[in-house]
Amino acid sequence: MASVTSLSDSVQQHLSSAISAALPEAGSADPLLRRSDRADYQANGMLALAKKAGANPRELAAQVVSRVVTGDVIADVEVSGPGFLNVTVADGAIVRNLAARYADDTGRLGVPLASEPGTTVIDYAQPNVAKEMHVGHLRSAVIGDAVVQLLEFTGETVVRRHHIGDWGTQFGMLIQYLDEHPHELDHGGAEVSGEEAMSNLDRLYKAARRKFDSDEEFKTRARRRVVDLQAGDAHTLATWQKFVDESKIYFFSVFEKLDMEVRDADIVGESGYNDMLAETCRLLEESGVAVRSEGALCVFFDDIKGPDGKPVPLIVQKSDGGYGYAATDLSAIRDRVFHLKADTLLYVVDARQSLHFRMVFETARRAGWLNDDVKAVQLAFGTVLGKDGKPFKTREGETVKLVDLLDEAIDRATAVVREKDTQGLLGEEEIAERGTQVGIGAVKYADLSTSAARDYKFDLDQMVSLNGDTSVYLQYAYARIHSILRKAGEVRPAAHPELELHPAERALGLHVDAFAETVGEAAAEYAPHKLAAYLYQLASLFTTFYDKCPVIKPEPPRDVAENRLFLSDVTAKTLHQGMALLGIRTPERL
Ligand code: ARG
Repeated sequence: MASVTSLSDSVQQHLSSAISAALPEAGSADPLLRRSDRADYQANGMLALAKKAGANPRELAAQVVSRVVTGDVIADVEVSGPGFLNVTVADGAIVRNLAARYADDTGRLGVPLASEPGTTVIDYAQPNVAKEMHVGHLRSAVIGDAVVQLLEFTGETVVRRHHIGDWGTQFGMLIQYLDEHPHELDHGGAEVSGEEAMSNLDRLYKAARRKFDSDEEFKTRARRRVVDLQAGDAHTLATWQKFVDESKIYFFSVFEKLDMEVRDADIVGESGYNDMLAETCRLLEESGVAVRSEGALCVFFDDIKGPDGKPVPLIVQKSDGGYGYAATDLSAIRDRVFHLKADTLLYVVDARQSLHFRMVFETARRAGWLNDDVKAVQLAFGTVLGKDGKPFKTREGETVKLVDLLDEAIDRATAVVREKDTQGLLGEEEIAERGTQVGIGAVKYADLSTSAARDYKFDLDQMVSLNGDTSVYLQYAYARIHSILRKAGEVRPAAHPELELHPAERALGLHVDAFAETVGEAAAEYAPHKLAAYLYQLASLFTTFYDKCPVIKPEPPRDVAENRLFLSDVTAKTLHQGMALLGIRTPERL
């Protein structure tokens, strides 16, 4: 694999050498380089260096400038302001850099792998058995999937865990009801759709609930089934498994609609840690991390108190002996650290569960399961709001079904695709396919383009708009480049480093070069929104470039045309790769 040194790194190296020549005691000091509007890059590291050396910053900067080797990479460098260095890169260096990225036939655009990759276990896309998925589950799935792609792209070993809610007291009622009405989930060998599976589960859930609330004897029988389930009674487990299987049919149908790969082997729900719960409690109690309090096994924290000022404990085992959400998560930590050998545990979970994770992580640290080498992070996401700024609900105040939302996004996107196809080039099948890619892309992008921690408004009109920071805008930019490449006919993209570049070409080229850095940052910070912002800017820079620099008409000289087609194509490849990391398709025709 051919990894390409980015221009900013080359410039940085040039400046570092000049700094050590001008000020040997500074060693390999960081010039603190960044992109700038004034020049291509600006370095302001001279200020701190001068201060440390007791020198005049402008004078030091001038000495550094005199030692910078200009030529192939740096065309010009000058002192500005209080002692900044303004750097202009050579046109040829930009084109050569992009040509090297373009030549990387792995599709990675020369992006290097992380120098010290580790193993991350990521907990995301974790709906609950026998329950409808809602917008919160959408966020976890969409953000988690993007982070998986980003991390894998940097070379990290990623183990996916879908910690589905498949265990707990609510199953007693369901199991008992199904046992008394055995035909309810019997499909007679016929295949059921995700929608049918969910409607079966929903009907069962409601019926079981009704019986549970109205029939005391049923209630008793249902409670007994919870005990049977926890004891691992074979018949009870077999009935429970039917709920899990039926739910998976539904989950997989939603993940498929989301155009997202979720593998059965990675679904390890709460039940998967059942065998570890007693041991987890024993370890915590023996080490004194957890203590008995009114019969329950609890962990206390100095800084976590309820409104009444009393400490709020993390309850690991209830006084009746039952285990809850915390015991499962603590056991999962042991599994992920000691068995899966993770050095990072990442949880893509709603911010409303932050207190739970703070307590769970702190408990695991006290137990020695987490430490300086093995860390746990909650990638906490905000709430999905309606247009009115309140948590997203239907007009009747009910939670919105995820599938309905996705279908509506697809419908609207399909309308947009149909409308834009003024010349009637697309057939019905193509319109439907593009509509799906645009609609699902719109939903994902809306989620990924704001930082995860923030709440965001679910506004379908805005999401499928062609103007502004939307996936549709990016998808059209990509399709437009492909249409340009098609129209160019026998003129093919080719790099011409000998040509002088237009400012719009330079701006575009330097931004393409920054892809590697952006991806590295987005992966390291679990921040897909940084990649989204980068891609939006890439599309905007391309629009400006295409406006200012004719590619086909009026016809430029052949070498200029080839070079511009090359710039267009490398932009397209970057858009495509970036969107793929966000889980969004880029059709070549729209
Ligand atoms: N199933 C949970 C929910 O729907 C999310 C699980 C989060 N992961 C975890 N390890 N607790 O809220």
